[in-house]
Amino acid sequence: MSKNRFFSILLIGYLSVTNVGADAGNGARLFEGSVSFENGGVSCVACHNASNALVINGGTLAKDLTKAISGYGGVEAGAGETVKAMITDSSSMPSPMMTTAYKGKELTASEATDLVDFLVKADSEATAPSNDSNSFIISGVVGAIIIFVLLSIFGRKRKRESVNQAMYDRQIKSSWKESKE
Ligand code: HEC
Repeated sequence: MSKNRFFSILLIGYLSVTNVGADAGNGARLFEGSVSFENGGVSCVACHNASNALVINGGTLAKDLTKAISGYGGVEAGAGETVKAMITDSSSMPSPMMTTAYKGKELTASEATDLVDFLVKADSEATAPSNDSNSFIISGVVGAIIIFVLLSIFGRKRKRESVNQAMYDRQIKSSWKESKE
């Protein structure tokens, strides 16, 4: 197995355990504005907060969206679709302020889907703090294992080559000669 391939597998394993890099991850970046909307709409964080480790703190101008999905009855009741419809069509947005902000700068369907995925994630993590700390511990343990594996790979290589020892021996020899003359 090539080294690149080995690292890719490690990285993918790490990302899937920590659950970042899925659509919710992209939704989080759109929400906080670290990724821009295709049609130039302003990022949600300008007006809204959502408390989640994936995003920076947001504005307090409008409702906190951490529990928005629960507020519309939860995922089982189709809250995801409700919210998605709300943010896709500028004429049926939940506030005139949002209609103004997104008129002519509508979100694409995939952007809306990713945002909803993020809101679902933020909502579920807010209701289950114990789960949250579990996944924190799991990602910590997995991270430690990865570091351990990397260290043992590089550590082994260094020992085999033993460049330092060769340089040290050379220096000892020459300084001994000098002092003799
Ligand atoms: C210009 C400010 C502004 C921006 C930007 C904005 N919103 Fe809003 N949003 C509002 C206002 C105002 C409301 C009405 C509720 C309130 O007064 O807090 C609202 C309501 C909502 C609601 C309904 C909340 C509820 O529980 O009833 C959702 C969902 C929502 N926004 C999602 C978003 C998303 C997702 C984005 C980013 C694509 C976004 N908003 C960007 C101002 C904004």
